[in-house]
Amino acid sequence: MLEKIKKSSQFIASFLKEEYTIGIILGTGLGELASQIKIRYAIPYADIPYFPISTVEGHQGKLLIGEFGGKNILAMQGRFHFYEGYSMQEVTFPIRVMHTLGIKTLFVSNAAGGVNTSYRMGDLMLIRDHINLFPEHPLRGKNFNELGPRFPSMTEAYSPRLIQLAENCGKQLGISLHKGVYAGLQGPSFETPAEYNWIRIIGGDAVGMSTIPEIIVARHMDMECFGISVITNSTANEEEIKTNHEEVQEVGNQAQPRMTKLLEAMIRAL
Ligand code: HPA
Repeated sequence: MLEKIKKSSQFIASFLKEEYTIGIILGTGLGELASQIKIRYAIPYADIPYFPISTVEGHQGKLLIGEFGGKNILAMQGRFHFYEGYSMQEVTFPIRVMHTLGIKTLFVSNAAGGVNTSYRMGDLMLIRDHINLFPEHPLRGKNFNELGPRFPSMTEAYSPRLIQLAENCGKQLGISLHKGVYAGLQGPSFETPAEYNWIRIIGGDAVGMSTIPEIIVARHMDMECFGISVITNSTANEEEIKTNHEEVQEVGNQAQPRMTKLLEAMIRAL
């Protein structure tokens, strides 16, 4: 695996003339943040040695190299989900490559179901912690000490410094933000009303099918992480749950200008 990471990184490094320390993963419905990036190169995943390839409709697979918020950034337009059939090693491979390329700070966005009864469709939630309910762990198996420790800590998985920065930027921009716990499951079916209820009981505020594997692997390598969810559907009222993919995409798209503004202000302030 180390050899594959190296080959992938060497290929991408040939496009990087300057230092890049900020990485962004653009989640479902949020890929259009890309339109605000001054793109220097857009490399299809298929061209990068050993990169997995996106399969889901609405997920474009490209690595964007450019400038956003006045900083050099690498952005993944399209991510790999466990439910697509990729192994956890494949899902998290690009994070390891980003780390090798010098990325120190990782911004991740996603769409999530609102489990907290005070959350409404279209709200934004800063992820302050997560509950890992995936059936596989990206660090299971041989540990590569070159990348990180066998038993990495997951306290402060989401950087308190970046959460504080987001809250400050949100206030300045008039963007209201929740702060909560993201529960991650494998999907691809949405949850039953009983499952949404269970997630609420165990302390989840929102639920989705991504992000946690990437964050675990990034923290293993000591990258500083920030996560934000668009609440695309409310599950507070059992009779009214009707989660569907089209609505998730649509609400995700509606939230995009706010999300883009917030991330831009944050990255500018770094
Ligand atoms: N559950 C899981 N993933 C999701 C949801 C949901 O309700 N909404 C958007 N992504």
